Amino acid sequence: MSTDAGKRAAAEAALQYVEKGAILGVGTGSTVNAFIALLAKEPGRVRAAVSSSEASTRLLEDAGIEVMDLNNAGPLDLYVDGADESNRHLSLIKGGGGALTREKIVAGASRTFVCIADDTKLVGTLGAFPLPVEVIPMARSFVAREIVKRIGGQPELREGFTSDNGNVILDVRNLEIAEPVKVERTLNDIPGVVTNGLFAIRGADVLLLGGADGVQTLKA
Ligand code: A5P
Repeated sequence: MSTDAGKRAAAEAALQYVEKGAILGVGTGSTVNAFIALLAKEPGRVRAAVSSSEASTRLLEDAGIEVMDLNNAGPLDLYVDGADESNRHLSLIKGGGGALTREKIVAGASRTFVCIADDTKLVGTLGAFPLPVEVIPMARSFVAREIVKRIGGQPELREGFTSDNGNVILDVRNLEIAEPVKVERTLNDIPGVVTNGLFAIRGADVLLLGGADGVQTLKA
């Protein structure tokens, strides 16, 4: 099974978590795009969505789904999003698409986070995927030096990329993240860091992994 087919299978499995008429938190990325395409085929299935990126907002609106401001939506029952890596505790690396800050906000505002991915995203130890860190532009070099001091790795500026919030991303290579909660907190303590792509303090509640044997469900 291709990774694309795995993504589609996971996206389809996530539909069972969507209550009719819900206001749904929606993530960003190719797996979520498959999920939005499925929602588009079921007009009225959701009342509205809170989006984690300008890219997802466009797709949701094209699908005829109203996009609400989180401030007007209140707490959400469900957030559906992809991941770049997950371990078996459902701690994630996210932000390959650069939407990590809004993703973390919407995940934090949601009662249940259902993560959808193809099964190649499941790893023993997080860190083979470069860890994205969103940074206020003036703090870029300072933050890069502090990252090396505090957790090691090799921060690299994501060239030619500005986040939806007007910030830059440092991708930190060569990490082996044995203690994701600790690393998430350590990075967030650096002045100038907006947030980082570790979702461990608030990881996923359910992980749906699409692969050749169908969809595997892992729970936190
Ligand atoms: C976007 O910033 C990311 O967090 C995505 O959720 C993550 O990169 C997964 O993307 P794919 O579904 O495209 O693999």
